[in-house]
This record gives sequence, structure tokens and C-alpha cells, in this order.
Amino acid sequence: MSAYDDVTDAYSQALDPEGAGLVDPVLTGLVGEVTGQDVLSLACGQGQDARLLSRLGAAVTGVDASAGMLDRAREHEAADPRGIAYVRGDAQDLAPFADASFDGVVCHMALMDMPDLVPAIRSVARVLRGSGWFVFSIVHPCYHPHVEIAADYLVDHRYAKLRPPDWLPPHAYHRPLAAYVNELAGAGLHLERLVEEHTPGRPDDAGSVPGLLYARAVKAA
Ligand SMILES: C[S@@+](CC[C@H](N)C(=O)[O-])C[C@H]1O[C@@H](n2cnc3c(N)ncnc32)[C@H](O)[C@@H]1O
Repeated sequence: MSAYDDVTDAYSQALDPEGAGLVDPVLTGLVGEVTGQDVLSLACGQGQDARLLSRLGAAVTGVDASAGMLDRAREHEAADPRGIAYVRGDAQDLAPFADASFDGVVCHMALMDMPDLVPAIRSVARVLRGSGWFVFSIVHPCYHPHVEIAADYLVDHRYAKLRPPDWLPPHAYHRPLAAYVNELAGAGLHLERLVEEHTPGRPDDAGSVPGLLYARAVKAA
């Protein structure tokens, strides 16, 4: 049972209900040219990022822990087949996948939903081929308006979101920025780029304060 099983319908109504695929210029820019590449959409949810990757020309596999979210992803795939395979699995072991299965892994807005970062990043490194790339986005660990970080910034902890919309689970996991950077390095993933992005159009957007953090890292050849 995943926390997202409780919000599956509302999430799918709120995000990409028509199934066109995620629109995210920052993520798309970090992913780059992927035509013909084998790409894993990690914690794919109802598949909006998998559909984006497919639109970019990749051969896509999506994996998620939530059976409900995967049902929605498969409904979109049945309505508009793109050849995306959806698999139920835990990002913290990626057991369904052999070593060196993918040219790239994308994890959009999900690492902060996982209680344990270390096995998730290690699993990404394991399933990547040499020179493979990893692009992820997360709620910014320093600045997001839904997160009260000032008191316990350096402490890994599960937090209650301040004003979660009803299509998101009410809790997530905070860890400091250094945990992400150091764990990438420890797993042999060389950090190429970080992007800090605010979220225009949101009523709680602070304008010059980044609510999101994106990263691209590459495995040694
Ligand atoms: C905020 S949603 C993002 C979904 C999708 N990437 C998107 O952008 O729409 C977070 C997703 O992470 C998944 N998730 C959380 N923990 C997971 C884990 N340990 N293994 C696999 N998926 C997980 C949830 O089921 C959920 O679908």
C-alpha cells in the first residue's frame, strides 16, 4: 500500500487528466536528446513523465509503488498506446530490473516521498549503464512554502506539509541538500548541473524563491 493509493483519482484529475504528458521545460532541457534510448521513469505515478519521455523519442519503462497510480498510467497507455511498459516496484531496490538496464533514469517529484534516499540512489546507479544519466526534481529542501524547515534543516525527518492540496499525501521526508549531493557522489554519479526553479502561477509562489530543485548526474563510463 502506497500513500498515493489514497489520492490516485484526485491526483490524476489535477495533473495531466487528458494524458498528453508532462510539460516541464527545465526537466526536458536537463534530459536532452534521448531518441532511441532506454529510459526508466522512476516513481512514474500516473505516467505523465513517462509520456513526456516517450514524446521525446525514448523507449520508456515506468515503475511505481502505487498500484492505483499504475492503473491510471495503464489506462492512458491503453487509450493512446506509446509502447510504455509499466511495472510495480520499489524505487529503494528496483528489484524488477537487472544491472545496467537503462541509458537514463528520470525521477520527477518523488525522492522526497521515499523514506530512505540511500538505497534509492544506489539502485539508480545500479540499473544505469556506463555513461548513463540521472535527472531528478524534488521539492526544494531549503525553500518550499509547504515545508517548515528552519528548525530542523540538518536533521532527516518526516514532516507534515503545511498546506497540502487534497491530491497530495500530507507527509513527506526532508533531508538536507548535502544528503542529495553526497549520496550522488557516493553512488558514483557525477553531478553535472543543478537548477533552482520557482513555480510561476502558484498562489503561494514567492517569485524569487525556488520551490523546486532539479539535478542531472552522470555515471562513470
Ligand atoms: C508526487 S508523485 C510523482 C509521480 C510522477 N513522477 C509525476 O510527476 O506525476 C510521487 C510518486 O512516487 C511514488 N513513490 C513513492 N515512494 C515510492 C517508492 N519507494 N518506490 C516507487 N514509487 C514510489 C508514489 O507512488 C507516487 O506515484
